This record gives sequence, C-alpha cells and structure tokens, in this order.
Amino acid sequence: MCGIIGYTGGGNAAQIIYEGLKNLEYRGYDSAGMAIMENGACKTVKSCGRVEKLGASLRFFGGHTGIGHTRWATHGKPSNANAHPHTYGRITVVHNGIIENYAELRQRLTERGEIFLSETDSEVIAHLIDGFYDGDLIEAVIKCADMLKGSYALLCLCEGKEEIAAAKCRSPVILGLGENCNYLASDMTALAGKCKEVCVLEDGDFALVTPLSAKIYDGGKREITRAYLPNLAEPSALALGGFPHFMVKELWEAPATVKNTITAFCGQKDLIKSALSGVRRIVFTGCGTAYHAALAGKRYIEEFAHIPCETDYAGELRYKTLNVAEKTALIAITQSGETADTVEAARLYKSQGCTVLAVTNSPYSAITRIADVVVPVAAGAEIGVAATKSYSGQIAALYMLASLVAEKEENFAAVAEMPKLILKTLEKIDIYATARLCAESSGVYFLGRDIDYAVALEGSLKLKEVSYIPGCGYPASELKHGPLALIDGSTLSVFVITDPDISVKAEGAVEQVLARRGKVAVITGLPGVKHDLKGRAEIIELPRCDKYLSPLLSAAALQLLAYRTAVILGCDPDKPRNLAKSVTVE
Ligand code: G6P
Repeated sequence: MCGIIGYTGGGNAAQIIYEGLKNLEYRGYDSAGMAIMENGACKTVKSCGRVEKLGASLRFFGGHTGIGHTRWATHGKPSNANAHPHTYGRITVVHNGIIENYAELRQRLTERGEIFLSETDSEVIAHLIDGFYDGDLIEAVIKCADMLKGSYALLCLCEGKEEIAAAKCRSPVILGLGENCNYLASDMTALAGKCKEVCVLEDGDFALVTPLSAKIYDGGKREITRAYLPNLAEPSALALGGFPHFMVKELWEAPATVKNTITAFCGQKDLIKSALSGVRRIVFTGCGTAYHAALAGKRYIEEFAHIPCETDYAGELRYKTLNVAEKTALIAITQSGETADTVEAARLYKSQGCTVLAVTNSPYSAITRIADVVVPVAAGAEIGVAATKSYSGQIAALYMLASLVAEKEENFAAVAEMPKLILKTLEKIDIYATARLCAESSGVYFLGRDIDYAVALEGSLKLKEVSYIPGCGYPASELKHGPLALIDGSTLSVFVITDPDISVKAEGAVEQVLARRGKVAVITGLPGVKHDLKGRAEIIELPRCDKYLSPLLSAAALQLLAYRTAVILGCDPDKPRNLAKSVTVE
C-alpha cells in the first residue's frame, strides 16, 4: 500500500524524504513524488514509476520541511497526474488509504467551481482542507477528517508554514521524534537510523509537527499524549548485505528467524497458554502467505490438541455470520500487522467477546493493539514483497502454540533442530534445473497431500507473485477430478511429498501426470520416493524431519524455486508488478 513520509528540521528535507521513500517502496511503486516548503511556497516533483526517478531532481531542492509519497494505485491509473502530492490552493497533501465518499465530495466541490487535476480519491482532501483553512492548519485538517469516509493516513503542508499536519484513520501513522527535527511516516522502516523514539498514532488522532515540537490532538482539538516507544527499525534490515535481492537475503534469514522465534515464543508461553485455556473452537485467519500458514496452524491444533478448527481468508471471514456460541479464539496471522482485512476480522471477533491472538513480527502494528496476546515472530522487518522468512517464523510459532495447548512441550526440541536443517536445505538443494523448467512452462501446478498441500498452495502463490507464470495449488488427491485436464508436455507439476504415511498415494498422482507427458519435479525427504522416480522427474531432496515441521524445508525450497525462476525470466522478485507488501485497504 502507499508509503508516506514527512520531515521537518534543519536537514535537507528532499534528501531525507527521498531516502525514506526508498525504504518505503515495498508499500507501492507505481509512482512517487514529494513536496518541499521553500521560502514559504510548496515546490513539488512527481514521477511515474520507481522512487529513484526523483533522484535527479533532488539538487533543485533546498528546503527543510516536506512530505513524500510512493504509490500503489487504487483510484486512477499510475500516471504523473495521479501521483501524489496533490495541491489545491495553499494546501498540499499525501494520502494512504481510500476515501470511500470521494465521488460525492468531488461532485460537490466541482459544483462550487473547483477544478480537479487527477482521477484519485485523494485530491478531494487538499480541496477540503483548503476550504476550511483560516490560519489554523490542524483545525482545518480536523474539519476535513469529519467529512471523510474510509481510511486515511494523510500528511499536509500549508504554504508559508514550516509544519506538517497529520490525520489517521485505519491506516498507520508513526511519529518519529528526532533531535531538533520530527518525522511522520506510514511505518517504522522509513525511520530506521533516524530517531530513537516513536509514537504510534491511534485512529482519530491528529498531529502537528514543527522542528522543535510534536503535538498530538483528538478530534476536539484537545492535546493528548501517546506513549514514547523505542524505534525498533534496524538499518541493517534495509541493506542488501551483499545479496542481489531482498527476497533471497530474507530467505537465508529463515534459520535465524526460527531460532529467534523459539526464544521470543518461550518468553510469551504463559500468556499464550492462559489465553487459550478452555477454548473450544479456534478460527485461523490471514491473507496471502499468512493464510497458508493458517492452514498449517489448523492441522497442528487438530492433530496435537484435538480442538475443532476452521480457517478462512480474513477478507471473507469478516462478512460471514459469526458463530461464537462456544468459547472461540481467533488466531490472526499477519506479517505486517496492518493488513486491513486481517485487522478488521480481528476487530470483529474481539467485539463479539472472542479471545484474539495475533501472530506477527510487527510489534507496534494495528493488530497488536487489538489482540489479547501477541504470538511473536522474530523475523524483523521483511522488505521483499513476497513473504519468505516471515512464513518460516509463523510456521514455527504455530507449531509451538499447538504443542503448548496440547501440553506437548517436548515437541519444542524438534523445532530447535530446524534452523540447521533449513540452512542445510538452502546450502544443498540444486534448484536450477527445475527453475529452468518452470521458466519454460505454460503453467506450473503444485500438488501435495495434507500438510504438503498447504505448502503447495504457498509454492504456487510464490511463483505467481514473482514470475507471473500461471498455475495453481491443488491437493494431489484432486488431480484426477479436474486439473489433470490441464496437463500436457508444456506444463510442469511440482509435487511436495514429505509424509511417509501417504507418499504412495501422492506418487500415484505423479504417475498420472507422467502418463500424460507432463513434466514433473518432486520435493521430498523420503528416500523411497526418490528411488521410485529417479530419471523420470526432477528430484529436489530435503533433509528428513518431523512431517509437521517439513513446511519449514519444503517451503524454503519452493521460495528458492520461485526466486530463481523470476531471476531467469528477468523479473524483479522484490517488487512484483501490481503488488504491495502491506495492503492497508480492503
Ligand atoms: C499482500 C502481500 C502478500 C502477503 C499478504 C498478507 O498481499 O503481497 O505477500 O502475504 O499481503 O500480508 P500480511 O502482512 O498480512 O502477512
């Protein structure tokens, strides 16, 4: 979703905002722009495409207060006109979110003779604030917010003033408190290395910052206080550290993520256990990769603790009739902690009296403020849009959570073995031949049974996200009920086979594909499978491990497969087309 940053202080605002935008680019990269206050006037530069295109203009700016934006297009195609900031009269704004009533507001303003220059929902904000402005910027922003429906994190400059106003509703805003300077940003990564303390704004908060003061107000313009928290953003998370892409860097950080997640989980054990004590039903939810982790979480709870579970995509769950008659807990999984669908599902379950647990690696995120208990995933910041290490951390956390509920803490020892097995997998597997097959295929199908099916879905998502090759994930048992019709010599089927109890059945499905001349790759830790299929399929060999922990190895192999395929095809794995890392709108 769009990234926003504001700076006011003694430094070169354009340079600081440019650096911040580069760190926020994973939130959207359709266009970028900034506005800098110079001699009382607002000077703007915008460009379609990546933030780096703004670099050439930096030397033309010398001001000390400004705002910037990197866009993931919702309303209006990526273009210079639709790029933020948007200016009307004395006011310039950047916005993340969706103004749901923008069409009605725009019509009203147009009837008043005001002219719009873009197709965005955001432009109405500049018009409204300008209309309300009477010398007091924060008052005008509060009045404007009263008229908006939807979600917004917005930053606003006003001609002649070295200050930035902000408003927040259902999209994140972090205030960074620097030395003789202040920042506002959509997330902490933009503030890495810039300030020691941050305040997280709540919905309905407004802020006004100058170089020497940072004030937070409520909707009645009463000054309020919010806790000062340490800035946890690590500059090292934002550096490639010798890797060509963040996706592969972060994939190699999976062993450390699992190791650190074990430590973090053990620190929260008692809280997690008591939150789930007496629970009769568990609903797992998330979006994208986090949803695939949810599928594994369900299997763990069912298998270890025998508690009935359900899973649903968060965006679907929100609109279904809630059945909370039994003591129900919601386990919401989200890397960013800000995904609108997941956050709103959690809010809904919480409002119905359910216990909410958040599995996340974003400590100050919206989901952590809703949840009763946070199940920590110690992945640090994840920059590559396609999730890698966060999935590993989520799997480890969910496995431990289920073991804890089932009073099988002896299982933790098996998790502790996994960092070295993940490392061994990454060091030893040879994925190039399969990646080349993927790159040449008209479609790639991922198949597995039981827990391997959950991983197959993730493998398919990963490949689609970063290489744009069509395909899907299916239970291997379902192959014959439809997907087999897709198989021919131009397709590749990737089987995940890690469960010795049902490997024979999965091998049966492999034979069905081979009989239709389909190409096959098999990811397995089972020597028998390797023996049976040698010479007839690409074999990607995994170290042996507990079948329920095998997603940590098989998913790492599939993430690497997706990465290598993207690189072969010349796609940018860190910034897949049309996607964004943190989707803060519905
Ligand atoms: C977006 C990303 C996916 C991610 C999903 C959920 O769609 O492109 O890679 O899995 O959001 O994100 P979350 O932060 O909630 O885990």
